[in-house]
Parts: sequence; structure tokens; C-alpha cells
Amino acid sequence: MSEKKFFLGFNWKMNPSNIVDSQNLFASYKIPLESNKNCEIVVFPPSIYLVAGEIFRISRKIKCGLGAQDLSAADEGPYTGQISAKMLLDTEVKYSIIGHSETRDHYGLTNREVNEKVKTALKNGISPVLCIGFQRDPGQTEINYMELKTQIQAGLRQVKKIKLELHTKIIIAYEPVWAIGTGKTADSETISTVHKFIKEVLISTLGVRKAEKIQVIYGGSVNDTNALELSKIEGVDGFLIGGASLSPEKFAKIVNDLNAI
Ligand code: PGA
Repeated sequence: MSEKKFFLGFNWKMNPSNIVDSQNLFASYKIPLESNKNCEIVVFPPSIYLVAGEIFRISRKIKCGLGAQDLSAADEGPYTGQISAKMLLDTEVKYSIIGHSETRDHYGLTNREVNEKVKTALKNGISPVLCIGFQRDPGQTEINYMELKTQIQAGLRQVKKIKLELHTKIIIAYEPVWAIGTGKTADSETISTVHKFIKEVLISTLGVRKAEKIQVIYGGSVNDTNALELSKIEGVDGFLIGGASLSPEKFAKIVNDLNAI
């Protein structure tokens, strides 16, 4: 493993459907997290569970970070349904997923709006997990390098000028849209080639010094049976995991496997 810890983001999406189950899921994470030393682990529950999640995390000494699944580009004001970066910080939330393909798809989020959210996050000391890999046609499995490059360059526009706080970082999640929630993962060679390409685009967009600090993670049907293999792929600095994060057994196996390396 490199000196940067392997990043594991667990994205609960719109699950579970009540607070008791959310606390039980958190509680089930405790034991595997205690033996964790190789990974930086961040849980992304629905925002309505963040406050209780934080209280629970502290009182039960659960060793992981908390992240939001989205944040508003605006600081405050008439934005019904939105959650601001300051509100997240006030709840000790230090990460936010931005531009997930489900958000781009269902709410028509554009690259420009993604960029506004990324800048707001960084200016407020929140680390964005910027998701790329969205393609309008989810059946399209061929890699669209131009589209990936656009999503990186547009998503990180003007970010070079922002001075990052010490604890703040940028994470890029490559998530081929056809692999999300389908049980299909991209093959090792593809993942390695795409991650290399992303790292090159990051260098040309942000310069070597900033780009080197960015972790490029993979998402799309990562689970307890493939996490270990996928973690060995060159250029993979972590995972964003959806479905498997809702199963205590799968969560434990993923964390234990990655800690046995
Ligand atoms: P999945 O979701 O692991 O269920 O494919 C990944 C994601 O959407 O972040």
C-alpha cells in the first residue's frame, strides 16, 4: 500500500428507510472498523441521518469519517431542499460526494453546476468526492475519453487557484455508469488504463503538485468478492461502494480483506 491510505467510501444512497436501521447499520460497522489500519473509511448516509450518525459515531467511538451525498453550491438563502457546506461542517461532516451519476441523471446536474459545488466544498474545507464516468447512454460501455476529460476539466475549473486547507483533499471517483448497481465491474486493464488517463488529465489541469495529492478511486459493483482483486490494480487508490455497504457481512469482509494486505 502507498503512504496515502486506501480510501473507502460507503455510499448508502437512499437507504435504509428508518433511523433505527441506520443506527444498527452503523453499529454493525464498529468491530471491523476497530481493526482497520490501512484504509481511510468514510460513510455517506442520507443527510437526514447525519446528525444522529455523528452523535452515534462519537458516543460509540466508531472510527470512520462522515460524508454527505451532495451539497448546495450556494452558501445560504432561498434554495429549498438544499444543504449547505456550513451546515455540513457544523455537523462534523468533512466530505461530500459531488456529481454522482444518479444525481446528474435524475436532476440534470450539469458540469458547470458540479464545478460550483466542488468550489463551494473546497472553500469551506469540505473534501469533494467528484464522480465522473456518467454517460447519457448507460448502455454505452465503450470508454468515452473525451467525455471523461470534459468532466474532470469542467468539474475542476478554477480549482487550481483555491488554497486547500490542510485536512481538505480532492478525490476523483471513476464510476462507469453501466457498472453501478448492476453486478458488473469494468475489467482490470480498463480500470488501470482509465485511472492512468485520469491522473494525466489531473496533472495537466491542476499541475503536478496538486494532482499528486488526489486519490483516484473506482466505483461500480465493488463488493466482498472482488474488492481485494480490484484493490491490486495499478492506479486504484480506493473505492466508492454502494450496495455492498448495506450488508454488515459484506462490509466486514471488504474492510478485513483490505487490512490483511
Ligand atoms: P454500487 O454503487 O456499488 O451499488 O454499484 C456504487 C456507487 O453508486 O457509488
